[in-house]
Amino acid sequence: MTNIAVLVSGRGSNLQAMIDSIEDGYLKARISVVISDVGDAYALDRAKKHSIEAVFVDPGNYSSKEFYEKEVLKNLEKHNAELLLLAGYMRILGKTLLSAYKNRILNIHPALLPAFSGLHAQKQALEHGVKVAGCTVHFVNDTLDGGPIILQRCVEVREDDTDETLADRILEQEHKVYPEAVKLFIENRLSIEGRKVNILRS
Ligand code: GRF
Repeated sequence: MTNIAVLVSGRGSNLQAMIDSIEDGYLKARISVVISDVGDAYALDRAKKHSIEAVFVDPGNYSSKEFYEKEVLKNLEKHNAELLLLAGYMRILGKTLLSAYKNRILNIHPALLPAFSGLHAQKQALEHGVKVAGCTVHFVNDTLDGGPIILQRCVEVREDDTDETLADRILEQEHKVYPEAVKLFIENRLSIEGRKVNILRS
């Protein structure tokens, strides 16, 4: 069974989707630790409710990203994490984690990458006037939201959408597609070829 670690900073609805997918048997995995860079992140409460180890690593205690990530890494190793999921984690990963978990870090982004990377992706999409928006699960590398794409889902943009209504509809898809991508990973059905992720269909 694959040991998963989840890095979070906030509300943790994608973490919850992962927990639910494990509890209902869709994912044959366990979450061995949830690590937050924000002390009062609701995601930590969600983890505790499901008896998952929840750790706050306070960035204020470290003088650099490198030292901070070394502490995170210590926690990941302590909990034998084999796969690292970013779920609303608001920090850009540095070399320490990227090299320790090369091709074993996934992220979910609320836009159809490569469009609208970075913050407030749903707002960027609306302001750009796109008619279709969505979300992307991708491998994490050293470019912001730029790693090889695993899965994407679209949602239609409606005339009367606000940032919030669009974000909510995208979020519904996030909660489905992220566990799907994790399933593919843990079943060893993903291979990376340059920018492209090949999916071995069962
Ligand atoms: C999601 O929209 C995700 O795509 C983005 O950050 C948000 C996290 O939400 N990376 P939650 O904490 O999982 O509810």
